[in-house]
Amino acid sequence: MTALSKLSLLLRRFRRRIRPKAYKEYYIQEALDSLGRRVYLEIGVRLGDSFRYIKSREKIGVDPCRTKPMLKLRSGELFFEMTSDDFFRGPGVQLFATKKVDVCLVDGLHSFGQALADVLNAAKVLRSDGVIVLDDVYPDTPDKASPTAHGRAWNGDVWKTMALLRFAQPDWEVYSLPADEGVGIIKTHGCAARAIAAEDVARYGNLPYEALASDPAIIGLTR
Ligand SMILES: C[S@@+](CC[C@H](N)C(=O)[O-])C[C@H]1O[C@@H](n2cnc3c(N)ncnc32)[C@H](O)[C@@H]1O
Repeated sequence: MTALSKLSLLLRRFRRRIRPKAYKEYYIQEALDSLGRRVYLEIGVRLGDSFRYIKSREKIGVDPCRTKPMLKLRSGELFFEMTSDDFFRGPGVQLFATKKVDVCLVDGLHSFGQALADVLNAAKVLRSDGVIVLDDVYPDTPDKASPTAHGRAWNGDVWKTMALLRFAQPDWEVYSLPADEGVGIIKTHGCAARAIAAEDVARYGNLPYEALASDPAIIGLTR
């Protein structure tokens, strides 16, 4: 970890303390608290900043890159060093055979397709009144919204996932909050995902950044 990234992490923690509602962790914890703080799943853990901040009886982290802070697990924590796809078709099957997830943070690979797969997989293991939180849904520049990963300030095109879900899952509640890098909130209300046509996936995947910039309602942004 470079000195610069250490400093930005410390700054984020300080800001989170004085303006908690500006950060995704506030909404995750609020949902967990209302559901009894039982099972929290985090896709994309990195240094464990969110993972360690969140309070829940059980916390399950998934990330193909295991960082130093995640080598030593604390009571109630589980960590799977693998991609989310491998997790959901592997250990996740047994893990969620007998219990469901209260809140899942989807914060792994910030691409449209992967975020979509993660949300659809998470929805299958979510309790009926559970919540999926999707990070990075409101990039404020086309550069940050690039479908191709680059540098540190990269949100990717996860916003298209929110737009598609609002269109394709009418039984779900799907909206975005103007906090952090854009916090997507998804509630399935116990409804299974409807099949999404390949042409709709392609259509939303090809949306230009302008579609978001000119109309943030496309991701259900609340102001
Ligand atoms: C933005 S960071 C997560 C930050 C963390 N959630 C937090 O708020 O403190 C994204 C993480 O996703 C992980 N990642 C990338 N591809 C992934 C995948 N296919 N499945 C799960 N995690 C992935 C990366 O290794 C990286 O650690």
